[in-house]
Amino acid sequence: MEINNIFNNNYLWANEKLTVDSSYFSNLSKGQSPEILYIGCSDSRVAAEELMGLGPGEVFVHRNIANMVPNTDLSALSVIDYALTHLKVNHIVVCGHYYCGGVKAAMQPNDLGILNPWLRNIRDVYRTHQEELDAIEDEDEKYNRLIELNVQEQCINVIKTPQYQKAFSDRKVAVHGWVFDINSGKLINLKINFKEKLKDIQEIYKIS
Ligand code: CO
Repeated sequence: MEINNIFNNNYLWANEKLTVDSSYFSNLSKGQSPEILYIGCSDSRVAAEELMGLGPGEVFVHRNIANMVPNTDLSALSVIDYALTHLKVNHIVVCGHYYCGGVKAAMQPNDLGILNPWLRNIRDVYRTHQEELDAIEDEDEKYNRLIELNVQEQCINVIKTPQYQKAFSDRKVAVHGWVFDINSGKLINLKINFKEKLKDIQEIYKIS
């Protein structure tokens, strides 16, 4: 890939949009009111809007290694705060993906420097579900299951935030856990029962 080709691609893309709707960009410039906050992995193969068939203006996006929502991550927490309090999104999606390098790295006993504290969050997910994961003998199956459980735990991390708890009581904002299967292109709904999870966590994490 030649980096300068991107400007040509951009020119063609912008023209294509304008051919369909001459006020496409001037409308976009008026503001955003997305319905969805999408929290996904930075992996280059998981194209957030594209895989959902959505376009500019429809999704507020946050991406990091292994779609994490750590309690001390100002970036993720600011995105959640802004999406819920100011954009008033009605859905929060945590989307993981099979073949996730971040989750794979967390399963190896290697010292990865600055990545260690980040991957620690995934190892904590493993420890929380150790009994279930240790019982899976097939390594690929174990890897896939950790990816799913990580999505579930990051949904719970979203639910633990005071912003979410408030947004749920105000307007019943939904939390969804999905996994994108790179090998088939399919999006899988983990069907997280967020109302039940909210009730469970509020025994300890209730903030009101
Ligand atoms: Co990934």
